[in-house]
Amino acid sequence: ERIPVICIDGPTASGKGTLAAEVASTLGYHLLDSGALYRLVGLAAEREGLSTTEADLRDPAHAERMGELAARLDVRFTPGKTWLEGEDVTEALRAEAAGMAASRVSAVPQVRAALLDLQLNFRHLPGLVADGRDMGTVIFPGAPLKVYLTASAEQRALRRHKQLISKGIPAILADLLADLQARDARDMNRTHAPLKPAEDAVLLDNSHLDIEQSVARVLDWWHGKQ
Ligand code: C5P
Repeated sequence: ERIPVICIDGPTASGKGTLAAEVASTLGYHLLDSGALYRLVGLAAEREGLSTTEADLRDPAHAERMGELAARLDVRFTPGKTWLEGEDVTEALRAEAAGMAASRVSAVPQVRAALLDLQLNFRHLPGLVADGRDMGTVIFPGAPLKVYLTASAEQRALRRHKQLISKGIPAILADLLADLQARDARDMNRTHAPLKPAEDAVLLDNSHLDIEQSVARVLDWWHGKQ
C-alpha cells in the first residue's frame, strides 16, 4: 500500500493514454493501460468465436464463459508491445472495433472480477500510473492522486479523426462522434464500475490544453502531495 499510484480515469479518446504514459515516463513509474486488458478479452473472444454482442452477453451462461476466458488470458507486455498467446496484437488492439468490443465485454461483472488481480499486480516500486475508467473508484481506491480527465465529445472525436487520418486510416467524423457517444453512454450507465469521477478526484478538462500543459498540471498536483 505504500507504493504510490496515480490514477487517470476518463471517457474514451480523452487523451488518458498519452497523458498517463508521459507522466509515468517523467516519474520513472510503471504504467497500466487497463483498457488494453478489456480490449484483449474482446480480441481473444473474437478469435475463439465467442460472441461479444450485448444480447448474447445478457445470457448468464455466456457471461460466465466470457469471465472464464478473461481469467485464462495469456497476455504479455513488453515495452511498447502487447502479446496475446505469443502473437503481437499491438496494432489490432487499437482498432475501433476492438474498443467497441471491449466496451461490451467490460460490462460483464465476471470479466471485471477476472481482471482484478492482473491489474493489482502492476503496482511495483517506485510507483504506478494507471489509466482507465475505474482506477480511482474500484481498483486503487486508496491512491493518493486521482485525476478525472475530460474533454468535450466534439473535441475527442476530432482528435480521434486526426489520429486515424494521419495513419492513413479512412474515418468519418460524424461516425466517430456517434460511436464515441455510444461508448460513453454504455461506460457511464453500466451497473458494475461505471465511469464516474471518484469523490476525491481532481477534474482536468483538457479541451483547450496541449499534452505538455496537461502533464505539467498532473505533475504539479503530484508534487503538491509529497
Ligand atoms: O481506454 P480504452 O478505450 O482502451 O478502453 C476500452 C473499453 O474498455 C472502454 O470503453 C471501457 O468500456 C472498458 N474499460 C473499462 N474499465 C477500464 C478501462 C477500460 O471498463 N478500467
